[in-house]
Amino acid sequence: MAKVRFTETALRDAHQSLLATRMRTRDMIPIAEEMDKVGYFSVEAWGGATFDTCIRYLNEDPWERLRQLKSEFNRTPIQMLLRGQNLVGYKHYPDDVVTKFVEKSYENGVDIFRVFDALNDIRNMEKSIKVAKAQGAHVQGTISYTISPVHTLDDFVDLAKNLEALDCDSVAIKDMAGLITPTAAYDLVSALKEETDLLVDLHCHCTSGMTPISYYAACQAGVDVLDTAISPLAWGTSQPPTESMVAALQGTEFDTGLDLKLLAHIKKYFDDIKEKYLGILDPISESIDADVLLYQIPGGMLSNLISQLKEQNALDRYNDVLEEMPRVRKDMGYPPLVTPTSQIVGIQSVMNVLGGERYKTVSNEVKEYMKGMYGKPPAPVDPEISKKIIGDDEVITCRPADLLEPEFDKFKSEGEEKGFVKSDEDALTYALYPPIAPKFLKGEAEEEELKPAKSFDSDDAIGIPTQYNVEVDGDMYEVKILPTGFMEVEETSKGPFTPIEGGVFSSMQGMVIKLTVNVGDKVTEGSTIAVIEAMKMENDIQSEVDGVVKEIFVEPGDAVSAGDILMVIE
Ligand code: CO
Repeated sequence: MAKVRFTETALRDAHQSLLATRMRTRDMIPIAEEMDKVGYFSVEAWGGATFDTCIRYLNEDPWERLRQLKSEFNRTPIQMLLRGQNLVGYKHYPDDVVTKFVEKSYENGVDIFRVFDALNDIRNMEKSIKVAKAQGAHVQGTISYTISPVHTLDDFVDLAKNLEALDCDSVAIKDMAGLITPTAAYDLVSALKEETDLLVDLHCHCTSGMTPISYYAACQAGVDVLDTAISPLAWGTSQPPTESMVAALQGTEFDTGLDLKLLAHIKKYFDDIKEKYLGILDPISESIDADVLLYQIPGGMLSNLISQLKEQNALDRYNDVLEEMPRVRKDMGYPPLVTPTSQIVGIQSVMNVLGGERYKTVSNEVKEYMKGMYGKPPAPVDPEISKKIIGDDEVITCRPADLLEPEFDKFKSEGEEKGFVKSDEDALTYALYPPIAPKFLKGEAEEEELKPAKSFDSDDAIGIPTQYNVEVDGDMYEVKILPTGFMEVEETSKGPFTPIEGGVFSSMQGMVIKLTVNVGDKVTEGSTIAVIEAMKMENDIQSEVDGVVKEIFVEPGDAVSAGDILMVIE
C-alpha cells in the first residue's frame, strides 16, 4: 500500500479558520524554505478568503504574495482553493473573467487547483477545471460534503465520476464542518477508490471532534492525501495537527515518512506567529463544538454570536438562531454550507430571527439563489418561501454563467482610463471586487492594525449591547443590531436614532455600493433606493413611504453604521 501524503494548510485554511485569514505574507516567507524541505504533497497557500482579505484588510497584493511564495517553494506544489465560477469571490463571474483568472493564477505560481462549488453543481466547476487543465496544472475536483435527507453516497460517487470525466487528476472530499464520521469516511473513500482512478484527498475541519478518527478510517480505506495543519494552527475549526498525524501513522503501512524533527522546527516558528495574532484568535474557534453534531451546521458560523448572547443572558435568541439555520437550509433545498451558501444561509437566519418575521428582510443573494442564479440546489426550494421572496420572477435552469456578458475587457479599459489598473492582474482584482478594489489599487488602502489580545469585559459595558461579532467560515464580521421598538425613557440622547422626519436610515453596518435615486426623484413605498453591502451580502434599502427625495447624505463607497441617515424623503 502506498504511503499517505499530506497537504499542509497553515498558509491558507488554518489561518482562515482560526485567525480570520489575517496572516501576512511577511509572516509566511521566513519559514517557507523550511516547509519546502518537508515533502508535503502540497502546501495550500492561496485562494479561498485570502485574496479578499489581502486587499480589504492587509493592503497586500495577493498576486505579489503568490509570486513571493512561488520563489520560496521550489519542490512543493502550491495549491489554491478556487470556488468554481465564483473564483475567490461570492458570486458568479463570466467565463472570460474565469479564464483569465485561472490562466494568471497558474502563471503566477499555482500548481494545484482545488475547485469546488457550494451546490456541487458541476456546471459551475467545468470552466475553471478545463482552463486549469489546459494550462497543465494538477486539477483537484471537489465534493462539498454534507449530511441531509437528500445527500447519498451514490450522489457523491457520481459527482466524482463526472469530475473524472472532465479530466481531473484527483478528488477532494471537503468536509467543512467536520461532519464526516469514521464509517462514512471509510465508505466514501472506499467507493471513490473502487469506482474511479482518481487520487483521493480528505479535507476535514476538527469542529465536531471526530476528525482524527475519520482520518485513520480514511487511511484504512486507501486515502491518498490528508489535509493537516502544523499544530499551533490546528484543531477546532481548523485541520488536525500535522505532527500528531505523522506520529500516529509512523510504523504502519500508511507511514508518511515525514521528519518530526523538521516539523518541530516549523512548529516553533508558528508558535510565535500564533502569539503575534492572539488578539484575533477566538478561543471558541479552537474548541470542539458538539452542537455541530446535533444541528449539522459549521460550528464557527454562529459560535461567537452565541457566546455574546450567553454573556448578556439572552439565550432565547441563541436557540432561535440555532433552530432557524436548519429551517432556512431546508427552505433552500439543503445546500452544503460552504462559501458562499454558508454566509447566505447564516445571515438570512440571523435576519429572520432579529427581524421578528421570517424573510421580511432578504439579501439580494437569497433572491438570486431562489432564482437559480447560484445553480441547481440539491433539492427543490420551498415553493411558498420562494414565492414570498421572488414572487413570480422566472427561475432559470441553465448554467448561471451562460447569462453573463463578458466583462474582463470592460474592467481593464475602465481601470486603465482611471489610472489604477496597470496589469491584467490588477484588472482581475478590479473585476472581482469592484466596490473595494479601486481604493486598494490606487494605494489608498491601509493595513489594519493587529488587535492586542484582550477579552470583552462585561463590567465595562454601559447600556444595552447592540454590537456583536459574528464569525462566518472563519471570517469575523461586526454586526450592529438596530432596535425596532423603544422603551419610554425620560430623556433621549441625540444618538443615531434621533427621529428625523422623512429620514431613511441604514439598518445595518456596511458600505453603500449603489444609490438608485437622485435628489428630486419620486419614489413609491417598497421601491429600492440604495444598496448596502454588509457581511459580503448586498441588501436593498427600500423606501417605506411614497414621496420625493429631498436630500441624500451618502455616496457609493461610504461606510455606514446602523442608524446612520442615508437620505430624506418627503
Ligand atoms: Co477547509
